[in-house]
Amino acid sequence: MNSEPALQLSPSTGDGQTELHDLWVIVNGEVIERRVEPRLLLSDFLRHTLGLTGTHVGCEHGVCGACTILVDGVSMRACLMLAVQANGLSIQTVEALGSPDQLNPLQQAFRECHGLQCGFCTPGMLMTASEIVERYPNADEAQIRDLLSGNLCRCTGYQGIVQAVMACAKPHSESK
Ligand code: FES
Ligand code: FES
Repeated sequence: MNSEPALQLSPSTGDGQTELHDLWVIVNGEVIERRVEPRLLLSDFLRHTLGLTGTHVGCEHGVCGACTILVDGVSMRACLMLAVQANGLSIQTVEALGSPDQLNPLQQAFRECHGLQCGFCTPGMLMTASEIVERYPNADEAQIRDLLSGNLCRCTGYQGIVQAVMACAKPHSESK
């Protein structure tokens, strides 16, 4: 006889509905309160519940980096987190960086260094790059390449992206 435990399903309210959980998060500086299903992915919460479609979804299993966001300032895969796991945390998506009329310095550098390639990967690249500029301003080219290695590009290469990050990280380190 099989003694394996039965599959764990989301708790049900007994009427066939999945029990909802309270979620309190700060997204791009705004306090958000919602009731969500426990199985809702953070990437889906951002894109479909909040309409923040700048966070792209590629592989949906943590490989490509397209869905990268910052959670309390640290880069995370939004496709590998449940929305409820973000409860009480602060999230930044690409929408927080700048606007089409007012690019932030990193976005401007991507533009000037031709780091905007296929476009699909760019939001995730920008969020990882934001973390590098903020947390590792003294990173050299090899370290930047290493830190960017979780964001896959299969269209062109990393040269323009690395140059853009270096252009932004350098003044930061020099001002210290
Ligand atoms: S969609 Fe999340 S890592 Fe690829
Ligand atoms: S930037 Fe998207 S595949 Fe190269």
